[in-house]
Amino acid sequence: MKETRFDLNPHRHNYLFLKVAVSCLLVGLAIGLLFADSFRSLTLLSVVHTPSPIIPQLSLPSFPSPPPHSLHFPSNCTQTSPNPKQEAVKCDLFVGDWVADPSGPMYTNDSCPVMDAHQNCMTNGRPDSGYLYWRWRPRGCELPKFSPNKFLHIMRNKSWAFIGDSISRNHVGSLLCILSQVEAGDEVYHDEEYRSKTWKFPSHNFTLSVIWSPLLMKADIFEDMNGVSSKDIELYLDTLDNKWTNQYKAFDYVVIAGGKWFLKTAIYHENSTVTGCHKCHGKNLTEVEFQHVYRKVLKKVFDFIAHSEHKAVVFFRTTAADHFEYGEWFNGGHCNRIVPFKEGQINLGYEDAIMRGIELEQFHKAHNEGAHNLKLLDTTGLSLLRPDGHPGPFCQFHPLPNATVQNDCLHWCLPGPIDSWNDLLLQMLTMQL
Ligand SMILES: *[C@@H]1O[C@H](CO)[C@@H](O)[C@H](O)[C@H]1NC(C)=O
Ligand SMILES: *[C@@H]1O[C@H](CO)[C@@H](O)[C@H](O)[C@H]1NC(C)=O
Ligand SMILES: *[C@@H]1O[C@H](CO)[C@@H](O)[C@H](O)[C@H]1NC(C)=O
Ligand SMILES: *[C@@H]1O[C@H](CO)[C@@H](O)[C@H](O)[C@H]1NC(C)=O
Ligand SMILES: *[C@@H]1O[C@H](CO)[C@@H](O)[C@H](O)[C@H]1NC(C)=O
Ligand SMILES: *[C@@H]1O[C@H](CO)[C@@H](O)[C@H](O)[C@H]1NC(C)=O
Ligand SMILES: *[C@@H]1O[C@H](CO)[C@@H](O)[C@H](O)[C@H]1NC(C)=O
Repeated sequence: MKETRFDLNPHRHNYLFLKVAVSCLLVGLAIGLLFADSFRSLTLLSVVHTPSPIIPQLSLPSFPSPPPHSLHFPSNCTQTSPNPKQEAVKCDLFVGDWVADPSGPMYTNDSCPVMDAHQNCMTNGRPDSGYLYWRWRPRGCELPKFSPNKFLHIMRNKSWAFIGDSISRNHVGSLLCILSQVEAGDEVYHDEEYRSKTWKFPSHNFTLSVIWSPLLMKADIFEDMNGVSSKDIELYLDTLDNKWTNQYKAFDYVVIAGGKWFLKTAIYHENSTVTGCHKCHGKNLTEVEFQHVYRKVLKKVFDFIAHSEHKAVVFFRTTAADHFEYGEWFNGGHCNRIVPFKEGQINLGYEDAIMRGIELEQFHKAHNEGAHNLKLLDTTGLSLLRPDGHPGPFCQFHPLPNATVQNDCLHWCLPGPIDSWNDLLLQMLTMQL
């Protein structure tokens, strides 16, 4: 076995978080998974971990995080509508509870023809199914289940793009499965690595795209076919990624998100100069905290959206917390809970809390400065309550009984809690129409 490229010493965070977190590998088996951010399997990583039986775990998690940062949920949903004509009291869709839903998901592994294998927990042998029978209920109003007919009707002649990392692809995967119950999308484009794709829904003349732009800015990412980086990321903090900006004018609706990629080792450029780096020890460069960079990037992204003549409806999705427990992604962390948390049973991890803080701060700033086409899709809190919704070891077909498995406690099973993100999107669309 080759030497691992991952420094497992937690004091030297010189690792590539996402790639490994999602590669869900069986050590020793090189499986060319065509998924996620070129999350091909990393056969190099030894993880000492025996999968534990799936058992309910009701105790509080022992997340190895620094001081907990609570989510600061607003107290309740009694914010009145600024529009007096709208009599109904607007409800905060993101404050609520997961409640039992015997009706279950809108699709299964059998009825969705376009599911990514690594999110197909049913086919991959996940034995429990309780995680499928919950729905998000905002306090103070009802969140209707997604109606594919209604959505496609609104989307006639329209174009919608999801821009971000592999979580955005997970999100679009959920939408595709739900829509496929009425009309399946025809894939009309994919890039070389199958990271960016476009689908057409001919009977509604609807175009749906996912654009892989994990850092949203111009970036050089050096990954081989195994998803292993040969060099650090070069991130250009003064230039937005033209992969999405070039196409922006074509989109009527956009969901854009940042996230965990900003925790990776990277060298930062600005005005044609290297201005610093993050986690790149031994390079004699100024260490820059990720929060500084994330704030700058979101400001640039929101400035672009605010100043573009094209007024798409843009949903900014907040960061997706992971649920690795009893370790991190690289040393046997796993997620084997089978029921949701209740509010108060879990706090955001340190970095996730900082990230969401910056997201809210920059979003509200942009919104207050007039970017009213910008909407907040604040899924962080409600998703944090769903440790039971990740593939864990079931991001691969039938993990061998005692195999050493890299768990995926970041992406979501399909069907799964991420389907609720689409319920929320359609409800937000309906409320503003
Ligand atoms: C929030 O709403 C819930 C349910 O509607 C209610 O039980 C609770 O008392 C409310 N809390 C506040 C602070 O208004
Ligand atoms: C769906 O999952 C079930 C197990 O939950 C399995 O028996 C069935 O073969 C799967 N269907 C497909 C099409 O993979
Ligand atoms: C969609 O576009 C076609 C062609 O431009 C037009 O005839 C039709 O009325 C449009 N439909 C809607 C719902 O806008
Ligand atoms: C599809 O929608 C586009 C606008 O997004 C419109 O230009 C085109 O004419 C429509 N095509 C049909 C066949 O309705
Ligand atoms: C880059 O240039 C811009 C405009 O010329 C300036 O505002 C900014 O401070 C510069 N940034 C750095 C890091 O030098
Ligand atoms: C680090 O960089 C500074 C300024 O660029 C330079 O003066 C110094 O000699 C460098 N140190 C090493 C060990 O290369
Ligand atoms: C798997 O592990 C269990 C208990 O840890 C053990 O009883 C069993 O023999 C192991 N099976 C194989 C195939 O190694």
